[in-house]
Amino acid sequence: VDEAVAPDGSPVAVYLAVPLEPDFTAVLDHLDPDASVLDLGCGVGRLVNLLARPDREVVGVDESPEMLRHVAPAVRTIEARLEGLALPERFDAVVLASHLVNVPGRDQRRAFLAAAADHLAADGTVYLQRHAPASLTYEVGVTTQRLATPRGYLRLRLEVHERRGRHLRATSTMAFDDASWSQTFEAELLDAAELDAELRTVGLALDAILDGTWVTARRADDRARPSRRG
Ligand SMILES: C[S@@+](CC[C@H](N)C(=O)[O-])C[C@H]1O[C@@H](n2cnc3c(N)ncnc32)[C@H](O)[C@@H]1O
Repeated sequence: VDEAVAPDGSPVAVYLAVPLEPDFTAVLDHLDPDASVLDLGCGVGRLVNLLARPDREVVGVDESPEMLRHVAPAVRTIEARLEGLALPERFDAVVLASHLVNVPGRDQRRAFLAAAADHLAADGTVYLQRHAPASLTYEVGVTTQRLATPRGYLRLRLEVHERRGRHLRATSTMAFDDASWSQTFEAELLDAAELDAELRTVGLALDAILDGTWVTARRADDRARPSRRG
């Protein structure tokens, strides 16, 4: 087993073993096949590895070199933190997956959203994966799930310790027969209006709610605005 764990607590072995969750098809179906793509927090490249083609610009950014070394060679990788990221290129599609938008700190959330906004082409689309706010999984208690993967069953356990309004504290445990990882985290659930307000602080606006955990955003000034009076 690859024992490496990214600085945020994500185990490399789990992301190598687990295929993309089914709702990623919402993104794959929505993406223009020729769109250039920037994946912020790409991990081992579960998404970008599927998109890479010699004639397509696909870039993955992650702070974990242990994650990045599993990304397909056709993908350009950049080892960096997302906060303050400043690449010269702009992309048709920018992906911010893995509920990074739900980090509890407003400053860090806005830094992640700014990284998306700063690298988006004029008429580009941002794909955001967020915790769906109404999900029962986020009430206090334990939910378990067993996933068949190519390296055996992965048992997932989520224990929500505390839920105060939109704020939750939980421990997630992921275990194969021969290895397990546990991580306590906090998250801030955002409804559509709150997400839109956060996006507007970096010049973006909520565009559409896709299936499952995904939403899209575009530049606020690309979207039709009602005419102002007075
Ligand atoms: C839960 S993993 C998921 C990876 C990938 N999005 C996927 O769905 O397979 C989250 C990834 O985000 C990266 N990450 C988290 N916070 C980051 C930050 N502030 N800067 C750069 N990378 C970060 C971690 O290193 C990790 O690889």
